[in-house]
Amino acid sequence: MLAGRRVVLGVTGGVAAYKAAYLARRLIERGAVVRVVMTESATKFVGPHTFAAITGSRPVVDLFDAEDVSPHTTFGRWADAVVVAPATAATLARLANGLSDDSVSATVLATAAPVVIAPAMHTEMWQHPATVANVERLESFGYHIVSPEAGALAGGDTGLGRLADPDRIADAVAAVLPGGPLTGVEVLITAGGTREPIDRVRYLGNHSSGKMGNAIAAAAARRGANVTLVTAGPGIEHPRVTIIPVDTAAEMADAAWAIAKKAEVAVMAAAVADFRPAEALDGKLRRADGPPTIDLEPTPDVLGGIAEMSPRPFLVGFAAETGALDEAIAKARRKGVDLLVANDVTAPGSGFGTETNQVTIVLPDGSTEPWSLMPKTEVAERLWDRIAELRKREGTST
Ligand code: CTP
Repeated sequence: MLAGRRVVLGVTGGVAAYKAAYLARRLIERGAVVRVVMTESATKFVGPHTFAAITGSRPVVDLFDAEDVSPHTTFGRWADAVVVAPATAATLARLANGLSDDSVSATVLATAAPVVIAPAMHTEMWQHPATVANVERLESFGYHIVSPEAGALAGGDTGLGRLADPDRIADAVAAVLPGGPLTGVEVLITAGGTREPIDRVRYLGNHSSGKMGNAIAAAAARRGANVTLVTAGPGIEHPRVTIIPVDTAAEMADAAWAIAKKAEVAVMAAAVADFRPAEALDGKLRRADGPPTIDLEPTPDVLGGIAEMSPRPFLVGFAAETGALDEAIAKARRKGVDLLVANDVTAPGSGFGTETNQVTIVLPDGSTEPWSLMPKTEVAERLWDRIAELRKREGTST
C-alpha cells in the first residue's frame, strides 16, 4: 500500500543507521517517495550521500543550513507517514518530551501524519525504566513502535535491541497508512494446530506450524483490514493484527465465535483437533501404570458454528487432504463455506511447516482451480484477490 505514498525517513545516530539505507531502498521498491532527515550523529555512521543516491534527494541534516527555510514543517506537512529508524534512546527521550532540537525530532513534532518508530540500542538501554517509560509515552501519542529484535549488537554482545528487519519496518509504515482495499473490514483468522490435554504434561496435537494462517493474516492487514488472529501457533506482530492465543479447540471456538459475529470475512486456516480426551488427568500418567486407554470425545466444530450463524461472514475453509480432491469437493458443499482451500499435505513442498504450498481452490458448486506451488505468502495474497472477486460478485464492495 505504499505506491505513490510520501514517506519521511528520520535517521538518528546509532550503528544501525546503515540499515536505514536498506529501509529507504525497500520503501522505494514498494513505490513510496522517500525523503530523509538525519541527525548530525547519524552522519557519523552513514553518509548523507548514500541516502541522496538511493532517494534522488539530498537529506536534511542541519535545519539552519537547508535550502528550505523551514524544512521540518515542510516535511511534516508533505509526509503521508514519518518513520524514525533507527531511533536511539536519546531520540526516544527527545520525542517523548516534545523536544525539537534536531532535524528528526523537529520533523516528528511538526507532523500530523502517522509516525512509526523503530528503536535500536543496547539491551540495558532498551530495558532501562526511563526508556520503557518513554516508549509508553510515545505509544500514548499514537505512535507505532516496531520493537527491536534479539541478535548480535555493536560491541560483540548479543541481546534484545537490534533494529527490526527493514521489511518489518516497511510493513509497519504501510500498515499505518489508510487506504488499502480492505480498509475498515473486520477479518477473523484461525491458525495453528490445537493441543488437547491428555494430562498435565501431554497433549494430542498435529504438525500445523501456523505459517499459512499467519501469512493470510499479514496479507489482510497489509490491505488495511482489522484482523483478529485466533491462533494455537506462534502469531505475528502487526499493528492491525490482534492476537488471541488459544490452546484447545474449545478455546478456539469460544474466541472465534465471539469475533465472527462482527467479522465480514472469516478464514479458518487452523488445524483443529476433531477429538479430545474425554477427561484430562489432573496429574501425570505414570509409565509404571502401563499403557493408558484414552477415551475420546468430539471437539466443537469451529467452522461449523460460524457456517450456522445468520448473518455470517464470508467463510473460507481449509481442507488438509492426503490424496485426490473428491473429499475436498464434497467438503466444500457439506461445510457451508464460500470457498475451500484444499491442499495435499503429502505433496512435495506442500503442507505442514513448509514455506511453500500447492493448493486447489474449491468452490461450493464443485468447480476447482489448481494453483501452482508457490510461497505461502504468495498463496495468501492470491487468496485475498480471489476472495475480493467472489465478494464483489456477491455485491460486497471489497
Ligand atoms: N475445523 C474447525 N473445527 C474443527 C475441525 C475443523 O473449524 N473442530 C475447520 C478447519 O479449520 C478447516 C475445516 O474445518 O478450515 C476443515 O477441516 P478438516 O479437518 O479438513 O475437516 P473435517 O470436517 O474435520 O474433515 P475430516 O473428515 O477430513 O477430518
